[in-house]
Amino acid sequence: MDALKVLVIHGPNLNLLGSREPEIYGKTTLEEINNLLLERAKKLGVDLNTFQSNHEGEIIDRIQGAVGTCHGILINPGAFTHYSYAIRDALVSSALTTVEVHLSNTYSREDFRHRSVISAVSRGVICGFGSQSYLLGLEALVDIISEANAR
Ligand code: DQA
Repeated sequence: MDALKVLVIHGPNLNLLGSREPEIYGKTTLEEINNLLLERAKKLGVDLNTFQSNHEGEIIDRIQGAVGTCHGILINPGAFTHYSYAIRDALVSSALTTVEVHLSNTYSREDFRHRSVISAVSRGVICGFGSQSYLLGLEALVDIISEANAR
């Protein structure tokens, strides 16, 4: 592999960003977030692919497919964050560095959002900064994988 490669995964309902509960998730659309990420990735010299799915199995297939083709995963698992042991297991078995991000501050919301089954298998978590969470997460992920790759 030449350039560092990052896979961005957006979970369920994130295709509706822009119109979905804008008071919580903001008015930025998923396409706009992806464009911001692509722009930042270009500056960082990283190849970036984005993927959104409302289906757990498709997300798992994509994580499995990233092994050997990607250096790291930036993931907003949406509501799967709170209960998908299957996505968690897929991330563990991929052995890829993972950064978890959320638009909203899940800790200031309903109790069920306070628990993430993904955080413990992620290198770090960024939440509460709207679309900026993704960019901060990308910066952190690229820092970590560049360092690991240079060794
Ligand atoms: C979310 C938070 C989750 O609790 C929720 O189910 C989402 C979006 C966020 O980005 O703030 O779909 O992951």
